[in-house]
Amino acid sequence: MIFTRRRFLQTSLTALAGASAGLWPWPGRAGQIHQVELTAQESLLNLGAGPEFKAYSFNGQSPGPVIRVREGQRLRVSLKNSLPHPTTIHWHGLPVPNPMDGVPQVTQAAVPPGGRFTYQFTARPAGTYFYHSHFGYQLDQGLYGALIVEPARAAGGWDREEVLLLADWVLADGGGAAPVRRRPPGGGMMGGMTARSAPGGPLLEPYYSGYAVNGRIYPAVEPIRVKRGDKVRLRLINASSATSYDLALAGHRLTVIALDGQPVTPAAFDVVRLAMGERVDVEFVADNPGAWLLRARDTGLGESGLAVPVLYQGAARRRPTPPRFHQGLSLATYWDLAAAAPRAHPAGEPARWHRQVLGGGMRSPYWSINGRVHPDSERLAVEPGDKVRLSYFNRSMMPHPMHLHGHFFRIVNHRLPPERWLVKDTAVVEPMRRLDIEFVADNPGHWFHHCHNLYHMGGGMANLVIYPGARGPFGGET
Ligand code: C2O
Ligand code: CU
Repeated sequence: MIFTRRRFLQTSLTALAGASAGLWPWPGRAGQIHQVELTAQESLLNLGAGPEFKAYSFNGQSPGPVIRVREGQRLRVSLKNSLPHPTTIHWHGLPVPNPMDGVPQVTQAAVPPGGRFTYQFTARPAGTYFYHSHFGYQLDQGLYGALIVEPARAAGGWDREEVLLLADWVLADGGGAAPVRRRPPGGGMMGGMTARSAPGGPLLEPYYSGYAVNGRIYPAVEPIRVKRGDKVRLRLINASSATSYDLALAGHRLTVIALDGQPVTPAAFDVVRLAMGERVDVEFVADNPGAWLLRARDTGLGESGLAVPVLYQGAARRRPTPPRFHQGLSLATYWDLAAAAPRAHPAGEPARWHRQVLGGGMRSPYWSINGRVHPDSERLAVEPGDKVRLSYFNRSMMPHPMHLHGHFFRIVNHRLPPERWLVKDTAVVEPMRRLDIEFVADNPGHWFHHCHNLYHMGGGMANLVIYPGARGPFGGET
């Protein structure tokens, strides 16, 4: 997952030679088609912290290959399903045409075992995204990977860039990654996770204890190697199913430059927070030689196991110094950040205003919006061109990272003019709090809208935004 400019150049040359298959592809020009083959399959995973266990992968690896394209390029992904279960791929955060969105029973029929499906869309806008299965609990079984859209005109100034995918895993007693078995919906045995379930009902969140970065658990994780003076960019992607992280890098502050792939006015913080489905791009200047740890805060649930060393060239080899999460550290919140450049947002009253009361939990595996549980949830009707507001009222004791497919939304922030409101696709509604978002209905179809805690989604915290007249994959309203 590490690359330097030199490696960039090399892969670019191999791509020109037409031999790029399997290598990290250099993004091509706008208009050029970027072809990727992904096979979803069962594989043995080794997290570097115990015995191998059986899970799911793309092309034999979890995370799957990094897909890197140029803004405006066509991306064509041909998916082959070699799993014993149906599957799909969703392009998290990218506003793709509705039939390409990868939500089973909403935008397409799931791809059956042995089947194929070709996803094709123009990659736009630039930013840090990821792709993942949207079928059942397959995200938690390893089916995810990074999707990076490079700006049409090379932005830059970074000496190094790292893509860091964060994931939560269940480890067996006694340490290591020995499988804890459970029966996934649809039958069959899977390793790497555990959960309790009412017979036939949704699953309760499993007890995670292993936190991987790019598929490896510290200390087996690949370190970030820097030279003094380097300007380093980290693209952090939280692909975890049910864990959010507060991250700090010892000896350095992190300058936030983008949230959910969309540029923000750069601002430096001690701690950045990243919920399920969110991405944050940060940069730092390597001006404090040594061996340091980028690590998650310990909230008592074990997230502090998520760590990556940052090693300066020539630093004496020793244990990396962890950050100390003392009181008074600055935390990057939505209210401390603004869109980098003013981005038009229609003024005035929204054409539609939907109240979304988030409830559930308390030992129940059911989670609801306005008291209803998906698929018996409501349909939020919108017309093309509408400005739509969603007001979330979280009446539960858990945070909910709410994700809307097919659109970016703005986080309503009365301290800023609307043109500077954050542009996001996933936003956390804290326990017992309210949060408002607004979006412009500019992408007709049937769009999934749900909590990105996989177990809350599976427990029903989901509904559909529907453009009347837009046809579903099964020839009509879904
Ligand atoms: Cu990241 Cu509905 O998905
Ligand atoms: Cu939730």
